[in-house]
Amino acid sequence: MKIEIISQNVDQTNLIAQTIAKTIKAPEVISLCGDLGSGKTTFAKYFIKALGIIENVTSPTFTLLNEYELDNIKVYHFDMYRLENSDEAFEAGFERYFAKETLDGITLVEWAENAIEILPKEYLKISFTKLGENERKISVEEIK
Ligand SMILES: Nc1ncnc2c1ncn2[C@@H]1O[C@H](COP(=O)(O)OP(=O)(O)OP(=O)(O)O)[C@@H](O)[C@H]1O
Ligand SMILES: [Mg+2]
Repeated sequence: MKIEIISQNVDQTNLIAQTIAKTIKAPEVISLCGDLGSGKTTFAKYFIKALGIIENVTSPTFTLLNEYELDNIKVYHFDMYRLENSDEAFEAGFERYFAKETLDGITLVEWAENAIEILPKEYLKISFTKLGENERKISVEEIK
């Protein structure tokens, strides 16, 4: 199933992130797709905050992975932009954050296209398309 939502501004993206956060149960992998500046990190920040995490959420562009934990909820936020291929992701030991058998939380990943083989068979794909300065199309699709 695929749904498409138009967000007119960041507050609406926040509301969409909060709504999706309420329905997600670990273990789950969420791939955030879309061009540079389309809103992947913005969505991830709101999503992570909606889970109750109060730490400052920053983009993992340089660290590749930022981890958050609240009570028993763990969140792994990846940005694979700087990776060249899937081998690099496997060599870095990232597989455990993507395999349902070993994942103990919720994994959010930006630029999974750069390491596509690390994605599990089933995941949630959220795609962002920039329609205007503040307008975004957000598509949510269950990949099986
Ligand atoms: N409706 C909206 N939803 C999300 N972001 C919006 C919206 N309107 C404007 N923006 C702005 O668009 C920018 C999106 O940047 P963001 O860092 O989230 O993109 P990104 O997809 O993670 O890019 P990158 O590929 O570089 O990591 C932010 O500055 C945000 O404030
Ligand atoms: Mg980003």
